[in-house]
Order: sequence, then C-alpha cells, then structure tokens
Amino acid sequence: MQFFIDTALLSEIEEAAALGILDGVTTNPSLMAKAGVRDFDAHYKAIARLTRGPVSAEVISTGYADMLAEARHLHSLAPNIVVKIPFIPDGVKALRSLSEEGIPTNCTLIFSPLQALIAAKAGATYVSPFIGRLDDVGHEGMELIRQIRQIFDNYGFQTKILAASIRHPLHVLQAAMEGADVATMPFSVIKQLFQHPLTEKGLSQFLADYEKLKLPS
Ligand code: G3P
Repeated sequence: MQFFIDTALLSEIEEAAALGILDGVTTNPSLMAKAGVRDFDAHYKAIARLTRGPVSAEVISTGYADMLAEARHLHSLAPNIVVKIPFIPDGVKALRSLSEEGIPTNCTLIFSPLQALIAAKAGATYVSPFIGRLDDVGHEGMELIRQIRQIFDNYGFQTKILAASIRHPLHVLQAAMEGADVATMPFSVIKQLFQHPLTEKGLSQFLADYEKLKLPS
C-alpha cells in the first residue's frame, strides 16, 4: 500500500518525506487556502520538487474545455503532477480526453461505487473515495472501498483506489485490509501511525536495563 500525505504545507511534506515511507502528495483547493498559498503554480512546482512520487493538483474549472486547458497547464508544471478532476459529467469527459493524451488523473469527490466505476471506464489513473466524509453523515465509508475493490477486480480495471478523507489510523488499517492501493492522510495521522505505547514502554525498559549494566558492581 502506498502512503500519500494530504496537505499543501511544504514543511509537513518535507518532514513526512524524511521518514522514508512517503510515496506521494495530494492537495485540494481547501488545503491550498489553509496553507495560505497565493501563487498556485509556484507552490505546485515546489511540492513536486519535494517528492518523486505523484502530486495531485486539483482543477478549479468546472466546464470541459476549461478543465482540459487547466489540466494541461497543471501537468506542464512538473512531470509528476497528477490532475485532480471532480466527478461531474464534464469532469468524466475530461478524464477520457486526458487519459488519451497520457496525462495522469485523480478523480475526486467519489462517494459511490458507481461513480468510481464510471471514472475507471473513462480512464482515470486514481479514484479518490472520501471515507471520513461518508462516516460523518452516517454511512460506512469503508464499505465504499470494499465495493470499489470488488468492481475493479471483477473487470480488471487498472485504476488505483486512493482512500481519501482519512481521519485516524483505523481508517488506514481498514483501507489496507480492503485492498486500497493508496491511503492519503493528514500529517497528524502519519505521525500517529508511528506511535505505540508498548513500543515506547518496551524501548524505555531496554535502555534502562542496559544502563544498569554500566553501574559499578
Ligand atoms: O483531499 C481530499 C480529502 O482527503 C479531503 O479530506 O478531511 O477534507 O474530508 P477531508
């Protein structure tokens, strides 16, 4: 399973990349705004320099022609930029055209398995089911991952399942168990994955016991 970080903050991307297990980055307009980004192009270029993995950059346009132009521009900023396209009819048309042009895409705002099926049929490189936002409204987000995995396997779709809107480590565990190809998560969740009280307690004990050896007998 690949781990992406879901942020537009360069400091978080650098810190996560230094851990040695980061495979890519996802952003969205809300994350860009939260990071206080003014010059989107320069910022995407800066992110793309911090990782060799894919960097999802989302279009703002909602019409087919504008989305295509914006997608081509975003992908021209760096070879590892994947264009994030919302699941709307014009977006699906754009996915098809971009797939034929060889521009990688990430179809975002996926909340149903049939949306994922349509995006895969249109040639999306990734689909992003939003687990946490489904949980928020009383649906089981993980069921969506399970259904998409089954549909993609039934028909041999190569589109990757990118579990998004992840809120805590249990989401990562469940997404991995259900066969999601990628989990994108906030830096806070990446850090939580490294913490276990028994590991910390065990290490303290090992070091304390080692120190005792050094005491004069
Ligand atoms: O980038 C898309 C997704 O991960 C957003 O997550 O927490 O805003 O639902 P969230």
